[in-house]
Amino acid sequence: MEFRRITNLPPYVFTIINNLKIEARRAGADVIDLGFGNPDIPSPRIAVDKLRESAELPRNHRYSMSKGLPKLRQAIAGYYRNVWGVELDPETEITNTIGSKEGFSHLMWVLLDRGDAAIVPSPSYPIHIYGPLFAGADLRQVPMRSLADVGSGEEFTEDFFARLHDAWEIGWPKPRVLVISFPHNPTGATVDLPFMQRIVDFCREREMVVVHDFAYADVGFDGHQPPSILQAEGAKECAVELYSMTKSFSMAGWRCAFLLGNRDVVQALVKLKTYLDYGMFQPVQIAATVTINEAADFPKEVCATYERRCETLIDGLARIGWNIPKPGGSMFVWARIPDPYAEQDSVEFCSNLVRDASVALSPGVGFGPGGEGFVRFALIENEMRINQGVRNLRRALTKLG
Ligand SMILES: Cc1ncc(COP(=O)(O)O)c(C=O)c1O
Repeated sequence: MEFRRITNLPPYVFTIINNLKIEARRAGADVIDLGFGNPDIPSPRIAVDKLRESAELPRNHRYSMSKGLPKLRQAIAGYYRNVWGVELDPETEITNTIGSKEGFSHLMWVLLDRGDAAIVPSPSYPIHIYGPLFAGADLRQVPMRSLADVGSGEEFTEDFFARLHDAWEIGWPKPRVLVISFPHNPTGATVDLPFMQRIVDFCREREMVVVHDFAYADVGFDGHQPPSILQAEGAKECAVELYSMTKSFSMAGWRCAFLLGNRDVVQALVKLKTYLDYGMFQPVQIAATVTINEAADFPKEVCATYERRCETLIDGLARIGWNIPKPGGSMFVWARIPDPYAEQDSVEFCSNLVRDASVALSPGVGFGPGGEGFVRFALIENEMRINQGVRNLRRALTKLG
């Protein structure tokens, strides 16, 4: 049978490495898994306790509110006020989503129709590329690779905006949506508030909506506090942001995120979602509310854990002759395939590493054509296991210095 939307999808390249990993484990190998960005840090104790307690009450077993309980929206509004100094109206400028992936995908349905266009950086988290495509829109991809080479800062900013202008100038129809996400998956690049201000000014001038996926909102390194786009002047005229509890509170499986910002966009998603779902299981919403209010420092611990792992990995790789700049944030390290192996593409390189080093990584091409030539390490194993992974790599990558 043919299913047009599905049949036309390219094979998900991460599945290739995942299958090799499963095979290797079946054969008895102890694979160090730095592939899939699936957080391993346990969720806050208070979240688990509150979930258990509220699940006991039958009144919490019924359908809930798709846009989230008022107290949950008030809690995230309080978090934004405390961390970023951003004021949001919980009634009109915030809605709950079932993880940011769900929120993003359906938001693309709201914002884009067949024949519209969206600007999306490449490489990108895959749903940033496929969300607009599923909605029937065309993509204008802005290369991000220079960021991995240059690092964050002035040079990256100028380069990014030059490419953004090109993406706007070239082609018809003019794009209606810009997707960005900083700290960035997979490159780990970070930006500052003036960068966000330029994005907001760019989009206001062109009557575009900018969607900022803020999945790594609380994971900035070297004391860097990632800016919310909603801190920029005039942001509420054109910007919405997705904030997720997945990474910050290490609550991946709970599927709790929010869309915040421009009220027309937020309310349009609310309307669509009333047709699609009945919201998250109420005990999860209650647990999330209490966690945001009472474990507001948990994200700092999570960030410190990822930063230690990041440094362990980067120092270890430098010792074996694979030099990589430290990312500004996120839970990833983005690395160019070392020169002696540069003739291999990223899927081949990663496949060989599962077999020869028992280390699973993500091939860069899985994040779009701009990711070819790179691999992504996810910091989801502890420091001891990361060191073990580096020793395995040293044995397998015999052509390194
Ligand atoms: C940029 C980005 N957005 C969204 C997600 C998924 O977040 P959620 O669990 O809230 O759907 C991830 C997970 O890796 C991500 O890297």
